[in-house]
Amino acid sequence: MYRSHHCNELRKSHAGQTAMLVGWVNTVRDHHGVIFIDIRDREGVTQCVFRPEQSSTASESSHHLRTEDVIQVTGHVEIRPDVDGKSTFNSAIDTGEIELVVTELMVLNKADVLPFQLDKELSNEDLRMKHRYLDLRRPRMTRNLRQRHTITKAIRDRLDANGFVEVETPILSKSTPEGARDFLVPSRLSPGKFYALPQAPQQYKQMMMVAGLEKYYQIARCFRDEDLRADRQPEFTQVDIEASFITQEDIYTLIEDILTAAFRVSRNVEVSRPFPRMTYREAMDRFGSDKPDRRFGTEIVELSDAFATSAFKVFASTIQKGGVVRAINAKGFASVTTGQVKRLEEIAREAGAGGLAYIKVENGEWKSPIVKFFSEEEKAILVERLGIEEGDLVLFGCDQWGVCCDVLGRLRLEVASMCGLNEGKEDELDFLWVVDFPLLAYDTEEEKWNAVHHPFTRPRTEDLPLLDDPSKWGEVLAVAYDVVLNGYELGGGSLRIHESDLQSRMFSILGIGEEDQQEKFGHILTAFRYGAPPHGGVALGLDRIVMLACKEDSIREVIAFPKNNKGADLMSASPGEVDFRQLRELYIQSKLPEKKS
Ligand code: AMO
Ligand code: AMP
Repeated sequence: MYRSHHCNELRKSHAGQTAMLVGWVNTVRDHHGVIFIDIRDREGVTQCVFRPEQSSTASESSHHLRTEDVIQVTGHVEIRPDVDGKSTFNSAIDTGEIELVVTELMVLNKADVLPFQLDKELSNEDLRMKHRYLDLRRPRMTRNLRQRHTITKAIRDRLDANGFVEVETPILSKSTPEGARDFLVPSRLSPGKFYALPQAPQQYKQMMMVAGLEKYYQIARCFRDEDLRADRQPEFTQVDIEASFITQEDIYTLIEDILTAAFRVSRNVEVSRPFPRMTYREAMDRFGSDKPDRRFGTEIVELSDAFATSAFKVFASTIQKGGVVRAINAKGFASVTTGQVKRLEEIAREAGAGGLAYIKVENGEWKSPIVKFFSEEEKAILVERLGIEEGDLVLFGCDQWGVCCDVLGRLRLEVASMCGLNEGKEDELDFLWVVDFPLLAYDTEEEKWNAVHHPFTRPRTEDLPLLDDPSKWGEVLAVAYDVVLNGYELGGGSLRIHESDLQSRMFSILGIGEEDQQEKFGHILTAFRYGAPPHGGVALGLDRIVMLACKEDSIREVIAFPKNNKGADLMSASPGEVDFRQLRELYIQSKLPEKKS
């Protein structure tokens, strides 16, 4: 037996008992020859005292202890004494009223000096990742991993209670379009051929519906070779769900049940249901995003009607070309610095804007190079619609609808972060369904139509006739929905096409010819001919759910061994080079340009 109790277990009621603890030396303090050690295990810490009069050997060896040594201590539990008339209770820890007076010490393993201290936050993330096994010793990280377990279990329990069956689908699979690049795995047994790691188990789960399973789920690892951000990893986990004979209302109810359970077990809160809903169009118009963060205002205001004939030609000509002019009022942010304005301009340009027009209201004056073009009437409309007051900063967007929404949506978020509008709002949980997504979007660069969600998504029945007219494709809405929390897309899904003809038609619209359809999706088109039931589903990003439940701002904080922003695991140094013989067996040759010396 290694221990009688864990390090967060002993209380006043144990006083007088003998106890044995194991763990890591968290801190060492020497008070005139009396050594105090906090011993730590995954549950918490307990103070241990080594008094020479209790055990001279233990006391003697305790002088050699260093932080992170692994030790076992035996002793008796005592209530912490008063010293000089003052209590020595420590209310910061659960075991703060007692201490273990040690009679026996066993050093199980010594530790070298660590590359970084565990009790301080470390900004060098690469160093954290290189020694992730140490980084994970921090109580915050241990707590996050345990929360992840708790949440995953709660989700499984809810799905199980609703009759869902967990099924594993292949990791070595075939390319399925989810909009990202595939990770490829060469096949040794079929020279020149490749598996793709699944971007999502989308096709397999639909095949499961054809198979008659009716209710499928999987805590599924997905792989996408895309540029990484705080809420994106190249491999991540989905709670992947599919069901037959289900309506979108059934799916909303199920997902609300799962998500409220996840936040109940992790945050001990009861999220109110049903979640509010908003159409994609409204979300874009008001917040410039299909995943709006509604915890702060700064909504987008329409101005196109008032500036169609403005003397400010940038506005007037855009509107004449079918574009829109809109603005947000960053209340009280006229104090914006030159550097911040530069940053805002950069963001607008990245989103596709030609520039950034703005007005600062300072000392009763509108400071802006464009104000001189505005008529009194136009100014009055700005004041009225935007509620302009002393100290405000008004930012304009002037472009085609989509670009304008995106520009103002991004500016809105940046202004919120610059002004700290979301500070202290981690406890606000604003769940939202975004519904009525468009089915198709035109890619002007590639000059082709793409599926907004994926090619298996069902058009609304009432919009089916619009598919006959290519000029109307942009108006077709899908039975697709996203669930959003505080500006993050937690999950998305749709009802699916289950008819072979319609599916084939959809592929054609997306520019996939008959031959390609057979080669890439023949299995689906065939399967749908053998009695495929109506079905639909959804996938939730587990990492994002846990991140928000743990109040973290990156999913790297809730993944045991994440990749850095270059897609590397610095601890195991992957990806790594491989032996040339390994490549030869796979009929692969590397054509990397030779390194210049
Ligand atoms: P989608 O592509 O929207 O849908 O993905 C579903 C959810 O997965 C999470 N997610 C990610 N999380 C971390 N890192 C990433 N790189 C990443 N990419 C996606 C998001 C997202 O909402 N097969 C469909 C679902 C369906 O139709 O049933 C799909 O994969 O939280
Ligand atoms: P100009 O007349 O080109 O000097 O532009 C006057 C102001 O309008 C400047 O502040 C520009 O940054 C801004 N501006 C120009 N084009 C756009 C655009 N497409 N969208 C928003 N603002 C713009």
